[in-house]
Amino acid sequence: MKLSKKDFLSLGDFSREELRAILDLGLKQKPLAREFKLEPTHPGRVLACLFHKPSLRTRISFEVAIRQLGGSSLYLTDKEIGIGSREAPQDVGEVLSRYVDGIMIRTFDQKLVEELAENSSVPVINGLTDRLHPCQVLGDIMTIIEHRGGIEGKKVVFVGDGNNVASSWLNAAAKFPFKLVLTSPAGYALEESFVRDVIGGGEVDYQWIEDPREALTGADVVYGDVWTSMGQEKEKEQRLKAFRKYQINEEIMGLADKDALFMHCLPAHRGEEVTDAVIDGPHSVVYDEAENRLHIQRAIIALLMPTDKEL
Ligand code: CP
Ligand code: NVA
Repeated sequence: MKLSKKDFLSLGDFSREELRAILDLGLKQKPLAREFKLEPTHPGRVLACLFHKPSLRTRISFEVAIRQLGGSSLYLTDKEIGIGSREAPQDVGEVLSRYVDGIMIRTFDQKLVEELAENSSVPVINGLTDRLHPCQVLGDIMTIIEHRGGIEGKKVVFVGDGNNVASSWLNAAAKFPFKLVLTSPAGYALEESFVRDVIGGGEVDYQWIEDPREALTGADVVYGDVWTSMGQEKEKEQRLKAFRKYQINEEIMGLADKDALFMHCLPAHRGEEVTDAVIDGPHSVVYDEAENRLHIQRAIIALLMPTDKEL
């Protein structure tokens, strides 16, 4: 399937069928990649990876993914390029498009990613902004499919900050039929205007519940993220206080379904939003999630970058 958009900026930009096609390719290629049996469908292609924030998973999985397809990658921080300070985003997009075949960017402002995409003739992929983390959530859904056969009808409870990962989960809930609950302190829920935009006139099974105990009852997936995201370090003390009751520990996990999965995008602040007993415990699938970033992102790159080879 050819995707309808040039860029991968938000799960909201794609149909359920298109997202399913990415998931299917990720699932199909995972065993092949593990056995070094993947066809190099994108020889010679270069992916520029622009990072304005740190990363372990996103950086390594994108760089490995393009190599597995037969291409190569460039890692660039903003010290080299200076988007918006040394050079206007439209010039960066135009110039990079003359050298490389795709751009992955992790930055602060979603608008910068959109501007870069508008001014690039090659695909631009969102590797996390303050607003969204679409590759993460697609990898998470792949993990739920592997462990539970599908996400349809499941109750996913996101415990913590209504931030980038939670926002992409809302985008996913508008595409796939599952129940999404966000439990957070008042003041840390998803932005109302964002929720309105995503839900529009559609039927999205989404609820914000302040009380974590009420929210977690019957959860099939308990999802954690840090309380202080990259760029919010100055708010750390205030956030530690606000989120105290939202720690995912064994007692809280006991309220979820007995077979519930524990998921976390990582990095985790162990002892803050999650205890060692939970993240290292029998419900946890966090390293499968981390691995699946590779398989999902390879599928995204493969479907966005033109090739006449069969995928
Ligand atoms: N989950 C995730 O995006 O991890 P990194 O910040 O290490 O890339
Ligand atoms: N919400 C976290 C996710 C990290 C992958 C952050 O933005 O730092």
